[in-house]
Amino acid sequence: MSQVIDNKTKRVLVTAALPYSNGRPHVGHVAGAYLPADIYVRFLRMRGIDTRFVCGSDDHGVAILITADKEGKSPAEVAKYYHDRQLEDFEGLGIKFDVYGSTSQNPYHYKTSQDFFLKLYEQGYFEKEKTYQFYDESREMFLPDRYVKGTCGYCGATEQNGDQCEQCGKMLDVETLKDAYSAISGKPAVVKETVHWFLDLSKFENSVREWIDNAQIREHSKSYVRGLLSTGFVRRSMTRDINWGIPLPLDDPDAKGKVLYVWFDAPIGYISNTKELCNQKDGSPETYTDWWKSDDAEIVHFIGEDNTIFHCITWIATLQAEGTFKLPRAVVVNHFLNIQFPGDEEAGKISKSRGTAVWIKDYLAEGNNPDVLRYYLTAIAPEKARTVYKPEDLVQRNNTDLANILGNFVNRIVSFTHKYVGPQIPERIESKVSEIDRAFANDMKESYEKITSLLDEVSFKGALEAIMDFCRRCNKYVDDKAPWTQRKTDLEATAVTLSYCLDAIHFLGVVLKPFLPFTAEKIAKMLNLDSEKLTWEDALKPQKAGSTLNPAIILFTKIE
Ligand code: 2FM
Ligand code: ZN
Repeated sequence: MSQVIDNKTKRVLVTAALPYSNGRPHVGHVAGAYLPADIYVRFLRMRGIDTRFVCGSDDHGVAILITADKEGKSPAEVAKYYHDRQLEDFEGLGIKFDVYGSTSQNPYHYKTSQDFFLKLYEQGYFEKEKTYQFYDESREMFLPDRYVKGTCGYCGATEQNGDQCEQCGKMLDVETLKDAYSAISGKPAVVKETVHWFLDLSKFENSVREWIDNAQIREHSKSYVRGLLSTGFVRRSMTRDINWGIPLPLDDPDAKGKVLYVWFDAPIGYISNTKELCNQKDGSPETYTDWWKSDDAEIVHFIGEDNTIFHCITWIATLQAEGTFKLPRAVVVNHFLNIQFPGDEEAGKISKSRGTAVWIKDYLAEGNNPDVLRYYLTAIAPEKARTVYKPEDLVQRNNTDLANILGNFVNRIVSFTHKYVGPQIPERIESKVSEIDRAFANDMKESYEKITSLLDEVSFKGALEAIMDFCRRCNKYVDDKAPWTQRKTDLEATAVTLSYCLDAIHFLGVVLKPFLPFTAEKIAKMLNLDSEKLTWEDALKPQKAGSTLNPAIILFTKIE
């Protein structure tokens, strides 16, 4: 991937996949879409790009109905309950959306989705057709999507939902889901006739291919999408026989009681949530066009791997068929995170039902530092493949990388300066500057360039590694210069060492801001600066001699 957003772009709309509002986020969700998107938004803003960060809950679909059944609540109650909790958990981790909408509560969403449907309908992309669907005879109901489970006919994975195989990513239907049974009654599902509206976007096959060629998508995800496309476009039913969702906007007796398929309305949620945001900010939803229809804005979607087909194929063709919207510039796909607890023989899938999820709510409720989790999830970011979350690894990373390497460097320099030089940034007397100092300053400049270009390419893990590598060299610089010995013979030379170190601390306070916002704020406070105001370009600016230094703040405590 090269630079995702070029230097000419003035505005960027970043979206993170809308999570189903039937549960709270765990570490896998956060690592997959929300944390990398938040890091990127913070970085873009620091570079002076007008950025909006849009997310919200995905309230429709069978997943919410199943939870409502289980919890004895209405689907609307379930959606609202989890919507509010999701927002709370994200905010606790410092993931700060400009809007966290809801596809059932957003006042613009129904109409925006229905208008999309009608626009495609009027152009002839929908065909009404008799079709066959799984049916639960004991409950007398059709079983769309997750109401039915079975074996994937492509790869043989068992216990798959009726809409998509988690193992191979392929979409499933009555023909390709084998040994189907009702997820409600557990009884075998029969196949029964019904009427649905099918979306045929095969006309857009070539234009989607062209989009894929030009869009910013990580190379291996691109190959995966090309693979999915090689079998051609499949006509998909975009309507469902359930009583929760957006009513079909057609004056046709067969449309009665049918709703839009959740994957039709969900990505449109990005647009309706932008409208909600614009209404809050500008007093009118109509300025959403500045983000969705303007030449100087770009759209970047962050998603988990299971959403790839919908964002990189169906959504693109839908936008092309609608015809008046911009296509996304980039889709950043992350893989799943597996998990391995001490004593487990091997890593496994994070599973709510098997109790192997680490919930954000629990992590925060235990009083843990949000930045430690942000750090660890970025250090193991599943950018190219699935990676493994190991609780003891998080502890280890906290104790070594964060407490020993980063925290200790900052703490010992700020404390030492206070003790031997006073509460001011010391003066740098040029005649006392040595080759080691110059090499160190140069290293910082090179690190800056490396970190910047990695962030431009949305390689967050690499960028964080580059910051930590620099941190290690900061400790080496202090050890080489040994100010504790220097101060006994040459206070001016000591001041030089400390001033370079304080510049490095300032540098860290700037480049860590997208990754560890709470820590960056503490670093800025020690330097008597307002973290909010620090821009990306400030990173290499030397500190002013004489400006006040606040007392040292402990950044990380060791975990036993
Ligand atoms: O996988 C999910 O959780 C979906 N609710 C993601 C939807 S993303 C977008 F299209 F809204
Ligand atoms: Zn499969």
